[in-house]
Amino acid sequence: MTMRQPGTRAATAEARPAATRAAVLGLGVYVPPRVLTNHDLTKLVDTSDEWIVERTGIRLRHVAEADQAASDLAIPAAHAALAEAKMKASDVDLVICATTTPDMIFPATACVIQDRIGATRAGAYDLLAACSSFVYGVISAAQLIEAGVVRHVLVVGAEVLTKLVDWTDRTTCVLIGDGAGAVVMGPSQNGGALLSSVVGADGSAADLLKLPAGGSRIPMSTEAIAQNLHRARMDGQGVFKLAVRVVPGAIREAVQKAGLTMDDVAWIVPHQANQRILEAIARSMGLPFERFICTIDRYGNTSSASIPLSIWEARRDGRIKDGDRLVLVAFGGGFTWAACVLTWGR
Ligand code: ACO
Repeated sequence: MTMRQPGTRAATAEARPAATRAAVLGLGVYVPPRVLTNHDLTKLVDTSDEWIVERTGIRLRHVAEADQAASDLAIPAAHAALAEAKMKASDVDLVICATTTPDMIFPATACVIQDRIGATRAGAYDLLAACSSFVYGVISAAQLIEAGVVRHVLVVGAEVLTKLVDWTDRTTCVLIGDGAGAVVMGPSQNGGALLSSVVGADGSAADLLKLPAGGSRIPMSTEAIAQNLHRARMDGQGVFKLAVRVVPGAIREAVQKAGLTMDDVAWIVPHQANQRILEAIARSMGLPFERFICTIDRYGNTSSASIPLSIWEARRDGRIKDGDRLVLVAFGGGFTWAACVLTWGR
């Protein structure tokens, strides 16, 4: 038996010559048709279009109907991703639903998706890392593919945050929107590849963003509802400061782990929480804001769906092309963050 010498590290996914690289084979998105503008919000809370645009960059957001749950948004996105990958649902080995707003605590929303799209051979689980869930999901899927555990994984970020927000609280309700984005991942076919990954968390900052009731700590009850504990709570400035502090480091670490420099990266695709957060991150990294894909004006904060929706928009308008190196970077409740570098395309 060969002992590892002290001070040497076990081979990481980044360091070992990968026999199989995981790539994105298909992308699909869905947003509910109903649109809520800033002007519409002025009829609900004491706010203005000017305040929302200036402080957040948001102009409109899509909102699910009363009978639409996260899985209802996830399924059309999943179908679109499978169609682009030219695959059948029965080819999928694993469904990961990245969500902060599952249909219910259990069963997993991924199981609902697995059944309704007919992914009859697939395992399924939900991944709850708040707004970082999609990037955590992509990283997890890639490792399982590279390790040979599974071949094809459907990762769906699906969110209906509008169901959990307090529509009388102007500090949160103006920020959010609903949507879904899905990727099919599998062995690289034509140079696409996940090149590096970074995950992080700081549970001591859990109080910055939380939904107190509905879990095992405070089960849902009429008392909990009377105290408004069934609605999302947020320390907006705390989230802002922590995001600006951790995200630049996560981006740099992911790029360095990939053996690249920022000059090798075509686009940074961040979680869309607030345009001012993204501008502050760009400033602190000395990068032009134009290198960040920003779509928050059209969607608001769609949590786990914001990164696939942004890639889809930027691909549609011709910015992201096959072969481009992207950094995906997300942050959110927990507090959690995650970043990865990938070469876009199959
Ligand atoms: N319209 C008008 N005025 C408002 C609104 C609004 N929608 N919201 C807050 N204000 C007021 C405040 O009451 C405050 O008034 P005061 O000075 O009289 O007390 C004033 O505007 C300034 O408030 P701040 O909190 O200092 O405003 P700030 O510039 O920090 O912006 C914001 C607030 C937009 C929330 C910002 O902190 C932010 O984006 N933080 C990050 C949020 C985030 O990413 N959250 C994660 C996901 S969202 C979720 O999960 C629910």
